[in-house]
Amino acid sequence: MEISKIYSRNLSKLPGDSIESRVIAIEENIRESDTWRRLEQVCSEAGETDPAQLARDEDFWDLIARSIYEPEGPFLNLNHGSINTMPIPVIRAQEAYTRLCNELPGYWFFEGFNTHREKLRAKLAVLLRTNPEEVSIQRNTSSAMETAIFGIPISEGDEVILSKQDYPTLVYAWKQREIYDGVKLKWVDVPLPSEDDDALIQPYLKAITEKTRVIQVMEMFNWNGQIVPVEKLRDKIGNHDIALLVDGAHIPGQLPVNLEKAAYTYWGASLHKWISGPVGTGVLSVRKDWISRTKPLFGASDPRSDDIRKYENFGIHNTPKDLALHTAIDLFNLIGEENKRQRLHYLKNYALERLSEIKKVQIKTSLKPQYSCALGMFSIEDIPSEVVGHILFDQHKIYNVAPVWGGLDGVRISPNIYHSTADMDRLVEAVNKIAKA
Ligand SMILES: Cc1ncc(COP(=O)(O)O)c(C=O)c1O
Repeated sequence: MEISKIYSRNLSKLPGDSIESRVIAIEENIRESDTWRRLEQVCSEAGETDPAQLARDEDFWDLIARSIYEPEGPFLNLNHGSINTMPIPVIRAQEAYTRLCNELPGYWFFEGFNTHREKLRAKLAVLLRTNPEEVSIQRNTSSAMETAIFGIPISEGDEVILSKQDYPTLVYAWKQREIYDGVKLKWVDVPLPSEDDDALIQPYLKAITEKTRVIQVMEMFNWNGQIVPVEKLRDKIGNHDIALLVDGAHIPGQLPVNLEKAAYTYWGASLHKWISGPVGTGVLSVRKDWISRTKPLFGASDPRSDDIRKYENFGIHNTPKDLALHTAIDLFNLIGEENKRQRLHYLKNYALERLSEIKKVQIKTSLKPQYSCALGMFSIEDIPSEVVGHILFDQHKIYNVAPVWGGLDGVRISPNIYHSTADMDRLVEAVNKIAKA
């Protein structure tokens, strides 16, 4: 029996108690706030405008920015790829759930919040276009993906295909399985950037042998924002004995997700990135027929069960933070999936197109929407990207990351919807100065 059931007093069944209404009131208060109403008005005025046209409407996005975001201060934050800034209603929701929880923390954690947590699972399933019974609420992509990496039933000699450009925490996890369990890692090199589907998926296909049990693939590489045609890869693999483990860290909130159609074996993502949820929120999806054979990372009373909830035995954790995802998803839906995708893509392209006109600047991200969205990368000939990144931050107060990994290096920019083209001009001007110095 799970610990929450052992501790449960079934208080929600006490007569006269309106547990669920206390929780629902939090969401209602947010929706009735001036901020939310202003946002609803702004979005309804935008009406039926074509998302491509709306993406260029600085006034619309300025209103969104002023409705739900705090001003940025002196810094220009061009690293939303690591963690998005939380919109004000999401901060308010987290605070309200925290205050409610604080009245009787043990009670709310073990039972009071349970119904609302299940409603969150259902809401996530709608967002990801899948079945709630395949959705596990996690802390981030690392915990989601590592649940699969350490839980998948493979053993000594079995082969795992992954790329040199994969995200470090996942690479380290696989290296542990190599050390402790003798699984064989087969590294492929993915050409980044690329606008050639075949070039992106062939390295994986060529590495397949009769011993291949898993292929791990990034749906969007975090370094330069490269989108990989994972569904094409899945179709070409064809062999259902090979598990497809997909890192979708950056996908929700940037690109539409349809997990039912995709039918990946495992898919993990962060919700503190482009869904703009509270820090430390993520999701794992496991295909129903793989749940019973994939053991949980933290012990469960029935590890062979096919109940997706067996992956959520982390001990006591911050449920108010998870529940504020309700607001983050509502907000995302209000702004509109396609409106957000197009705005992010437009802003990143606006910056990269202008940067490409500067002598010595190299662009390392495709500008085409099927190969990138919010993330972009560039470098300056003869100046190490780490140095460029430091100058941008120290002298121009432009926050960025300048990763060197898997043969790729550059300065990564990842603006958010509340930025303006004037913000992108500020970046371009700063890079221009650095390149000419
Ligand atoms: C592609 C990719 N995978 C995994 C992760 C890990 O995400 P988290 O730190 O939320 O666990 C990240 C984080 O930036 C990422 O970009």
